[in-house]
Amino acid sequence: RERKRKEGVNLLELSAAFFRERLKMPEASGAREYLATRGLSTDVQQIFGIGYAPDDWEALKRHLTERGVSEAVQVEYGLLVHREESGRTYDRFRDRVMFPIRDIKGRTIAFGGRVLGDAKPKYLNSPETPVFHKGRELYGLHEARQADHRLERLVIVEGYMDVVALAQFGIRNAVATLGTSTSEDHLSRLFRLVGEVVFCFDGDRAGRQAATRALETVLPLMIDGRQARFLFLPEGEDPDTLVRREGADAFNDRITCASPLSEFLFDQASAGRDLARVEDRERYASQVLAALGKLPEGVLKSLMLSELSRRTGVDQSSFAALMARAAPSPS
Ligand code: GTP
Ligand code: MN
Ligand code: MN
Ligand code: MN
Ligand code: MN
Repeated sequence: RERKRKEGVNLLELSAAFFRERLKMPEASGAREYLATRGLSTDVQQIFGIGYAPDDWEALKRHLTERGVSEAVQVEYGLLVHREESGRTYDRFRDRVMFPIRDIKGRTIAFGGRVLGDAKPKYLNSPETPVFHKGRELYGLHEARQADHRLERLVIVEGYMDVVALAQFGIRNAVATLGTSTSEDHLSRLFRLVGEVVFCFDGDRAGRQAATRALETVLPLMIDGRQARFLFLPEGEDPDTLVRREGADAFNDRITCASPLSEFLFDQASAGRDLARVEDRERYASQVLAALGKLPEGVLKSLMLSELSRRTGVDQSSFAALMARAAPSPS
C-alpha cells in the first residue's frame, strides 16, 4: 500500500512538473494572459505550482508513458480517462490552467483545472484515487504552513482562485475545500493546527447556505477555547473579487471583524422574526436551543444559555430541561 502511494505520488509530481513547464511554452500564451488578467504574478504562480495542460488529447500520456508509467496507473490516478466503449484513453485535463492539490507535506495528490474562458465545466478536478479523497483535503494548507509554521488562524474559502488571489495580496492563510461542503473531518484537521477558523464563503445564496451548514458542522467541535467566526461578503463578491477591489488592508479588517459563532447563531435564529412577539421568541429560543444541543458541555455553552435567557426573559433552568429532552441520544 505504501509502495503504491509512492508510485502514485511520483506520477503526480511528474505531471505537475510537466504542467509547469508547459505554462512557459509559446502554446501557453493564452493561459499566461488569463493568469495575468486574474492578477496573478509569476511569484504567486510559482508558490502554488500553477501550470498549464496543453490543448492536446495525449500530451501528458506521451510524457508519462515515455517515463515508464503504465496507462493503467495513469488512469488509476485520474490523469487519463479510459473510454469503456472504444477502449481508448486520453488526457483528462486539456487546455486548462492547472492547480496542483497538495497534501500538508507538499506532495501533489491531485489537480484542479480551470478553463480559460466561460466554457463548462469551469473547474475539473481529479477523481477519487488511492491518494485523493475530496472530502478530506484542503487546497492551500501546505502553502499556508510554508508561509507561517506557527499559524494561529485559517480562513476557509470556497475556491482555488480565492486562496491564490488572497495570497497574491499577502493574505497567506486561506484554504479551500474542493467543491464539497466543509466536513467535520476538514475542521478537526484544521483545529489540530490552529485555534481559530474564519469561514468566508461567497456573497451569494450558495455561500450563505454553506455558512449555515458550516455552523452546524463546527458546533460539536467547539472545545478547548477554539474559535469559529463567520465573514459575510457583500452580495456578488467572493474573496478574490473583493480583495482585488478593496486591497489587503480592507480585507484584513473584514477578517478581524468577522462575527463570532455566538453572534452568527443568534442572528440566524432571529432573522425574519419579531422578538417583541411571544410566539416568535418561542421559535427563536427553540432554534437556538437546537444548536446549543450540539455544543459540547462547557463554558461557551453555559454562556450562550445565559445569553439566550437574557434575550428571551426565560429562566435558564427551563432551557436545560428542554434541551435535555431535545438532545439526540448519545451513540
Ligand atoms: P472563478 O470563476 O475562477 O473565480 O471560480 P470560483 O472559485 O469563484 O468559482 P465558484 O464560486 O463558482 O465556485 C466555487 C468552487 O466550487 C470552485 O473553486 C470549485 O472548487 C467549485 N466549482 C465551481 N464550478 C465547478 C465546476 O464546474 N465543476 C467542479 N467540479 N467544481 C466547480
Ligand atoms: Mn475514497
Ligand atoms: Mn459562488
Ligand atoms: Mn466564487
Ligand atoms: Mn471567483
